[in-house]
Amino acid sequence: MSELKRFGVSLEGNLLEEFDRHIRQMEYPTRSKAIADLIRKDLVQKQWRAGKDVAGAILFIYDHHKKQLLEHLIDIQHNFHRLIISTQHVHLDEDHCLEIVVVKGKPASVEKLANLLRSTKGVEHCSLTFTAKRVK
Ligand code: NI
Repeated sequence: MSELKRFGVSLEGNLLEEFDRHIRQMEYPTRSKAIADLIRKDLVQKQWRAGKDVAGAILFIYDHHKKQLLEHLIDIQHNFHRLIISTQHVHLDEDHCLEIVVVKGKPASVEKLANLLRSTKGVEHCSLTFTAKRVK
């Protein structure tokens, strides 16, 4: 981490009150940490738009009784093997499997993989999250 720098921020009173309520709910220890996260969120969106490599995770849940579904999900992942760093499979309960697929690559490819998994019949939920750190 680089050296910490201080800077002043001026905000309307109402906006600051609302922000303070928000960061309490989000369990942020300080305003600085909350503001840093907001900045990173904006920067990762910029990286996304610029098409730079990003790292992230695709998390999805599906019904494990559908045997062909599992095969289909594995086929999709094999088609994107260059993008996938690791996968974790969790037997969530009697009916559901949860998978976390860690990815690194171009935003468009990562999004395509997430969209293919999400749109597969039997996948009940699928989310895609990125880190703000630029990867090489
Ligand atoms: Ni399972």
